[in-house]
Amino acid sequence: RKAKLYIDKNFTISEVDKRIYGSFIEHLGRAVYTGIYQPDHPTADENGFRKDVLELIKEIDPPIIRYPGGNFVSGYNWEDGVGPVEARPNRLELAWRTIETNEVGTNEFMQWAEKAGTEVMMAVNLGSRGIDAARNFIEYCNHPGGSYYSDLRKKHGRKEPYNIKTWCLGNEMDGPWQIGHKDATEYGRLARETAKVMKLVDPDIELVVSGSSNRQMKTFAEWEAAVLEESYEYVDYVSLHQYFRNDSNNLANFLAQTDGLNDFINSVAAICDYIKAKKNSNKVINLSFDEWNVWYHSDQADKELEPWTVAPPQLEDIYNFEDALVVGLTLITLLKNADRVKIANQAQLVNVIAPIMTSKNGGAWRQTIFYPYYHASRFGRGTVLDCKIESPQYDCKDFKNVNYLESVVVYNQDQAQITIFAVNRNSEENLNLESKLNGFNDYKVIEHIVLEHEDIKAVNTENDPENVKPHSNGNASLEDDILTAELPKLSWNVIRLS
Ligand code: AHR
Repeated sequence: RKAKLYIDKNFTISEVDKRIYGSFIEHLGRAVYTGIYQPDHPTADENGFRKDVLELIKEIDPPIIRYPGGNFVSGYNWEDGVGPVEARPNRLELAWRTIETNEVGTNEFMQWAEKAGTEVMMAVNLGSRGIDAARNFIEYCNHPGGSYYSDLRKKHGRKEPYNIKTWCLGNEMDGPWQIGHKDATEYGRLARETAKVMKLVDPDIELVVSGSSNRQMKTFAEWEAAVLEESYEYVDYVSLHQYFRNDSNNLANFLAQTDGLNDFINSVAAICDYIKAKKNSNKVINLSFDEWNVWYHSDQADKELEPWTVAPPQLEDIYNFEDALVVGLTLITLLKNADRVKIANQAQLVNVIAPIMTSKNGGAWRQTIFYPYYHASRFGRGTVLDCKIESPQYDCKDFKNVNYLESVVVYNQDQAQITIFAVNRNSEENLNLESKLNGFNDYKVIEHIVLEHEDIKAVNTENDPENVKPHSNGNASLEDDILTAELPKLSWNVIRLS
């Protein structure tokens, strides 16, 4: 089987906003406690943060991490998590029905983020709380001093303001499960008025208004339109969330779901532009895909957990090889839409539906999905080229004319490097890729990384952490500006040229 990729230096989609490689840490399960923070762990540093986990996170190098939720934020009192730790309350955490000890709060997380070398994308509670708590919280975080909350931050040991730039106005407010769920107009007004006061405190921030919880919500599209009708002039991004599942064990269909994702992104961009036209505005609202991943493996285990415990093993999906392909396909799809998707957060980072797992009494390891995320974040910075794909296709349950080859190309002008990310969705045959590189002379192949496995259900575990891992024995070669490469059946490929 043959596929072609037409690459031309002059045809570009957009600069990649590095925040597209963002991640997410929620006060949920073992993400914080025994994930990033565990003072009694042998690798814990002077602040109680696990250094083994920090090392793996630094490999990925996520430029931004969303915090503290998720559903958690809709019942969170930020004041519970600041000040002397011994005075902080244990709370019933209603989103996930656990006990939140508040041992880690804003200052600890900000300190951890500095160690991880990442920005924080902070969320305010628009579920059980509202305008007042949000304005006090941003004053605490971003105001230099001389006011009650900024001076309180100083009293708590942090002199300089954090200057957190990106803020989420609540989380999944369209979802009936959400604490303080609202209808679209009600939420749109609250988001607008909260945005107004937050920007009065700090005009340099950017705000993300909550879009639909997923593409299948009954209120999808009407929700975005009504929310933006109320808040358009005050917000900067609208959020999208999507999780993929393979309950019916239909691999061809599972791998095709990112074609639906592309459609979801285009639809939300169209709604933003519809409101722009309606309001005769010059402002463009971009997209923040601030939760995405595969999530379904842990459903049953979660039903069996006892409520009201501290840091139970919730949402601990063990990812297999086919999940890694879906993660790679998702990253390709996000990059192809880099002109509108400026922020994206893989949900989540440690233990909870995560690329990194820990054991409480042992180490930390990379799940299968770690690798495409790591490769994209490391090698996918620069400008996305507008390439044309010619590929054999297939039909499956929910999608028609699905390309076996899915691919995107990123050109990093500063480093004079080109990276081709490519997935072969074919489970029977290898694909012979041929690509003419227009406008790139004298490039050479640096490496052709391949993630493949004979068992699509193969996983990495604490005892066998390297069962699924990439190799660099791909056969890409470049002669007279023509690239050829064999993409093994069911594989994630990273072809690096310079
Ligand atoms: O990431 C897990 C949960 O998924 C988040 O808390 C919520 O926003 C979404 O439904």
